[in-house]
Amino acid sequence: MLTGCGKSDDVLVVGTNASFPPFEYVGGVSGDEIKGFDIDLARQIAKDAGKTLKVENMKFDSLIVALNAGKVDLIASGMTITAERQASVNFSDPYYEATQVVLVNRDNTSIKSVDDLKGKHIAVQLGSTGDIMAKSYSQEVTAFNTGFEAIMELKNAKVDLVLFDSEPAASFLDKNPGLKMVELDFDPEFYGFAVTKEKVELLHSINSTLTTMKHNGEYDALVAKHMK
Ligand code: ARG
Repeated sequence: MLTGCGKSDDVLVVGTNASFPPFEYVGGVSGDEIKGFDIDLARQIAKDAGKTLKVENMKFDSLIVALNAGKVDLIASGMTITAERQASVNFSDPYYEATQVVLVNRDNTSIKSVDDLKGKHIAVQLGSTGDIMAKSYSQEVTAFNTGFEAIMELKNAKVDLVLFDSEPAASFLDKNPGLKMVELDFDPEFYGFAVTKEKVELLHSINSTLTTMKHNGEYDALVAKHMK
């Protein structure tokens, strides 16, 4: 059985934090639809498992708790596979390679290397890998529920920089020409879908959907649709 805790057998509930374009964001004609690369992948995962997809939008740092409480069947949220998270959830095969980048106001020339992050006031999304990394560089880290709020703080010159994932950072830059991206020598990160340790069958089903989509061109089509 692929279902979790008292939910209808034919629904696959995916947990996400829809403030991470182009992976998940709120948009569409009605303005309240949750869309994005992860959501399209999750829709195919649900279809292949013979289910319909239901999306639950929540705070990023609540996702693993919600998963392990049986409120959602999987997490599709641009979540980086880390050893710390692997202690409490299982990840699918990696489905996207990303990295952290720095966002600063356009006239700021003070960040040229990772060393320059030391002691800077950094804004991040709460519970993200950017949050964890920022704390290794600086004691002055302010965490927000969304990357959008972190970027507002930068625009208002309340912080020196934002540390955020590359694709959402690029997407926010499009709408904020007063900011720029600085690419430093950060390690690559790999996104995976997360399921509970018990849902071995669902994990296999997710991985087989990913493998199929990578072979039949649907994965590349989604990259072309969502990424610049
Ligand atoms: N990749 C980062 C992490 O796993 C950030 C993910 C944020 N995702 C989101 N949907 N807000 O910590």
